[in-house]
Parts: sequence; C-alpha cells; structure tokens
Amino acid sequence: MTTLTCCNYIDGQWLSATQTLLSRNPTNNEIVATFPRSDSADVDVAIASARKAYRSWRQVPAPARAEYIFRVGELLLQHKEELAQLISREMGKAITEARGDVQEGVDCAFYSAGEGRRLFGQTTPSEMPNKFAMTMRMPIGVCALITPWNFPVAIPCWKAMPALVCGNTVILKPAEDTPACATKLIEIFQQAGLPPGVINLVHGLGEEAGKALVEHADVDLVSFTGSSETGAFVGETCGRTHKRVCLEMGGKNAQVVMEDADLELALDGAIWGAFGTAGQRCTATSRLILHRDIKEKFTTMLKERTSKLRLGSPTDPDTDIGPIINQRQLERVKMYLDIAREENAKVLIGGEIADEGELKNGYFFQPTILDNVTPEMRVAQEEIFGPVVALIEVSSFEEAIAILNDTNYGLSSSVYTRDINRAFAAMRDIEAGITYINGPTIGAEVHLPFGGVKQTGNGHREAGTTALDVFTEWKSVYVDFSGSLQRAQIDNRS
Ligand code: UN1
Repeated sequence: MTTLTCCNYIDGQWLSATQTLLSRNPTNNEIVATFPRSDSADVDVAIASARKAYRSWRQVPAPARAEYIFRVGELLLQHKEELAQLISREMGKAITEARGDVQEGVDCAFYSAGEGRRLFGQTTPSEMPNKFAMTMRMPIGVCALITPWNFPVAIPCWKAMPALVCGNTVILKPAEDTPACATKLIEIFQQAGLPPGVINLVHGLGEEAGKALVEHADVDLVSFTGSSETGAFVGETCGRTHKRVCLEMGGKNAQVVMEDADLELALDGAIWGAFGTAGQRCTATSRLILHRDIKEKFTTMLKERTSKLRLGSPTDPDTDIGPIINQRQLERVKMYLDIAREENAKVLIGGEIADEGELKNGYFFQPTILDNVTPEMRVAQEEIFGPVVALIEVSSFEEAIAILNDTNYGLSSSVYTRDINRAFAAMRDIEAGITYINGPTIGAEVHLPFGGVKQTGNGHREAGTTALDVFTEWKSVYVDFSGSLQRAQIDNRS
C-alpha cells in the first residue's frame, strides 16, 4: 500500500515540516504515513492563526457556525468507508468497530450542530423594577485538543465540534500513532469550507508539540484524553497557567453479574466489553465481579466463548480482535501478565503474545482471563488497556458494589440483574460517570454526558449538552430600563 504524506494544517494551508516521523500498521508493521515532528515554533504559528481567526469566528452567528458542522457530518457519512478502512489500517480496530468510530463522529456532528440553534441561556426576573436579567454563553477562545489513538475520529469530533459551534477556534494535536486518520478528518473539515485558522492541525510528539501547546500563554483551554500520567502533567500545567482544562483519563471498569442475571446476555456483554477493540477503550471491562452462585458456570461459558475469538487482520470481516496499537503497549500488557502471575492470579486462557503465522508481523495479544483475582491486586486496580479481564468472586450484591467502587477510577460500570431493586440501588451507589443496567460497559451515545469521577476526570463531561459547559463561559447580563440608578440589595429595602 502507498505511504501517505501528512502535513500540518495551519491557517488554511497544508504545511510540511523539516523533521518527520512514521506511523505504522500494527497488524503488519508496514509504514502507513509520514507526518511532521512539529516543534514549539510550529505550535506558535498554529496558535497565532487560531487567535486571529477567533476574532471573526466568534462573531459568526451560532446557527451559521453550526451549518459548517452539519456539512462535516454529511461529508463524514460520504467518506465513512474510506475513513473506516484507514482507521483499521492505522489503528488496528476491527472494521465494524472502525465504522462505528466514524459513525460516532457523524452522530456528534448532527447533535452538536443542532446546538447552534439552541445554546440556551436563561432569563430571570430582576429584584428591581424595570430591570431585565439574563444569562448567555460566551466562547472561551483558543482551544488545544489533545486526542488519543483509540478513537482517532470519534474523540477529535467530540471535542472539536462543540468547541466550534460554541464559537471557539481549535488546534488539534492527534496521537502520534494515528496521524493519517486525523489528517483525513481535517481534510473533511476543510472541504466543509471552514474559514482559515478556525481549525488547525499540529502533528508531533506529546512531549514536544503537545507540551508546547499546554504551556503556551495564548491557549485558553486544553481538552485532553489519554493516560493518567500525562493528564496529571496537563492538569498541573493548566492550573499554574490558569487555563480551563478538561481531562478524560483512565478507567478500571467492572461488570457485575448477579446470581439472578440472564447469563447468556451477561456473557455477550462481557465478551464485547472486555475484548472489543482488543480492550483498548477507556470504557473496556477489565474486571468481572461474579456472584459465587454463578461464578463456576459463568466462567466456563466465558472461557468457551473466549476460546472461539479470532485474532487477525482488522479489515478481515471474520476477525474479532485486532492488534494492540504498538510494541510498547504490547509489552505493557505482557508486563501485567507477569505481575498477575507473581500475584498468584490464575491464567485461565490466553496470557501470551500471539505470534502464530501472520500474527507474528503485528502486535497481537491473546484474549486473556485471569481467575482468583482479589480486589487489592495490581491487576484489579491498574488500567491494562489490553484484552485482559480479571474475575473477582463475591457473595452478595453489597459486596459487589463495594468492590466495584474500590478503585481510584470511575468511568463506566455495569450490572446484570433481573431484580429491579438492585438495579436502582446500583444506579444510586456506583461511583462512576456511566452505569449500564443489563448492558456492557461500552456503548456510550453522543447526546449523553461522557466522563468519569475520581481520578478518571476532573469534573467535566464531554458530549451531551454538558460539552457546552466545557467550551463556554457564562455571562450574566442586566439591562436597567428604569432611567435611574437602582442599587441592588439597598434601594429595594427599607
Ligand atoms: C473511549 O474509549 O475513550 O462507549 C471512548 C464507548 C464509545 C466511546 C469510548 N462510544 O466505548
């Protein structure tokens, strides 16, 4: 296949760079693209372009801003298959999931663009006569969007689309593993006719281009999705430089299966939640908390189904599980298997790098089930980001919820039960941003808030109308039409 040449997109121009890096297909290690290794000088130019464009973009009526995003949605639909093939090639997720990744971008386009005709504020009575009071949303300014490789289209869309509808300008710094996907996406924004400088793309390394963006004085907001370690740096830097910051970081999501659950349904959920996208989702199921009465039966069913999963090329429609993104991540997954063995967890199935036949050219890991896991083990506490699921046995519903909550993270969660009382208690008591009843931990839809509690996030939510709270500031406006000075709290009191 041909190697793609990716450029930065700044002020409506595609700019190449003196230094370049390579992205590779994780299935066979072939080069997919070359892309700029941007430095702080490139970042400066992108920020200046976004700053300049902001002055006029914020004045474009929101419904008109939204029309560009509707067009992006239409173009994404037209190019859905082409983009999905590229995602599978560069990132390695199974083709059906890659189509889902693009569809999530489409959904986000149509949903966010609808906000162009809402962006509601409030009107409220003033305490004074002949005075009017209201609130309105204002854009924030220049937004740096730093995005991961696991949803190379959906996540940049989640961030860029509401940001733009709200009147901000943006600079996207995509993950270094998926530059071609980001480039194709930005080409679509360009095709939709967005004015120069409104959306910019700066490729490069996190510790170079990413760091320069986060530290830059002329960036007003940073929205970051990625590891907790990098998120800590981003949060700290933004705190010091007084930037608004939205962080989406790790997860250690659990699915509970109670003794009254529909076990076949819970099995479908567990397989999809744990092994979909080779476990490389923030929302992946990495713990299965099983009631002791069904544990043995469910474990046998799970093992049986896992043994049938097919590893292979993600563009092959028969493949269930594609590769891990790169060598470093593959080694990290392997390291957690060493830790699991040291901690005396039992590897029921999998547990090794998969390198038979064609698989040896890529970064494949066998779908893995760890049994005899106790809640304090590292494999029950730390995010692995691979096709590895840990089984934990419990004796009651209360114990299940306590163990589910016993982690530093709180993104997604799931409970399988037929007992309505337990279902409502779970909704109330689980410490997570997302709870599914009788559904797996993955499957978030774009019109609901997405994000987590505890160390998963910093209190913000992406998607839904909550994205507007990330990308706007509130202004309170008072209009006094009495013609005289009216002192609140004073002149209307005796
Ligand atoms: C992520 O893993 O960062 O619910 C995003 C889901 C997807 C989004 C996941 N719709 O798994």
